[in-house]
Amino acid sequence: MRILGIESSCDETAAAVVEDGTRILSSVVASQLETHGKYGGVVPELASREHLRAIVPVVRAALEQAGTDYADLAAIAVTAGPGLVGALLVGITYAKALCFARELPLVGVNHIEGHIHAVISQALREGRPIEYPALALVVSGGHTHLFEVNGESRYRLLGKTRDDAAGEAFDKVAKLLGFGYPGGPVIDKLAPYGNPRAVRFTLAKMKGNPLDFSFSGLKTAVLRWFQSRDMAEEVERRRELLRANPRPRVEEWLAVTPQATRDVLASFQRTVIEELLRRAASAAESIGARALIVSGGVACNTGLRAAAEEARFPFPVHFPLPALSTDNAAMIAAAAFPKLKRGQLDDFTLPARANLTLAD
Ligand code: KG4
Ligand code: ZN
Repeated sequence: MRILGIESSCDETAAAVVEDGTRILSSVVASQLETHGKYGGVVPELASREHLRAIVPVVRAALEQAGTDYADLAAIAVTAGPGLVGALLVGITYAKALCFARELPLVGVNHIEGHIHAVISQALREGRPIEYPALALVVSGGHTHLFEVNGESRYRLLGKTRDDAAGEAFDKVAKLLGFGYPGGPVIDKLAPYGNPRAVRFTLAKMKGNPLDFSFSGLKTAVLRWFQSRDMAEEVERRRELLRANPRPRVEEWLAVTPQATRDVLASFQRTVIEELLRRAASAAESIGARALIVSGGVACNTGLRAAAEEARFPFPVHFPLPALSTDNAAMIAAAAFPKLKRGQLDDFTLPARANLTLAD
């Protein structure tokens, strides 16, 4: 059963064809980084416009690369939320039009469920299926959530961020220090050149659910560190580098990043990783988890991957391949497969929901 997946919830226009929820026949991603980079974050109106431009060629390329025609498809799956409403609408409207014209079933997918299925389907492909109950840590630019996962489609929310998402914290710190957007990949590359114990960021104690996250205090701590120094010239040198070359190499970054700044990046990243893994460990213990799933853009982080390995959890830890960690449509098609098998379809009233939740 082949499913065409379409994803347009944020700044990536993506389409993929996946067979039986596991075999990825194609996965095409058109990134809008060049468009949003100079603004230091995603500009919603520009995102919608870019999706409109990209959606037809991206879907066509996904079908071509998969050697698949509409007649070979069992369904079309599309991200219904959460995300930017104007961006979501482009994918949803196109998916509906295709389903109408080709008389195909439509399956709406929650983007977060997609991130979780990126890992579930990869684990099946690798012949080491996830054992349940599993704990899923979804960490991206928009989400930092802990879910109990029971089987392919049952979720219980255990904790979430009360303010910034983990990826958002990476992005804001990078923007503040002149490293451009998105911040995660740059900080990840530079962190090994700094001392992760150089700066101690004290985090506020949280009341209420001990499995909730908060990253805005950390962001403010970096801001204070920044303000206590005269860094204008240093930051300007990095902005100049970015203007000349939107994708600097590590050596070029290092040439404009003194040791004290490298140390703060490394210390910031270490603090985020410790926060994520500490709460994941206690959540896993509380549900008797038999596996840990880590997914979303921040799951690309090499420091997080290394720390998860070093933590020696008493259960397997599953990370997706980097290309499946960030937004893609293969994960949407994979998540739609069990829904299609259950006959859980949507009709043409499927709305775009900016705040769609996966579980309460
Ligand atoms: O999953 P994703 O592509 O989009 C959302 O659903 O938000 O995640 C993008 C986020 C950005 O905040 C980006 O800075 C972060 O993931 N990210 C990383 C890394 N690569 C991407 N954060 C830390 N380390 C990375 N290597
Ligand atoms: Zn995402």
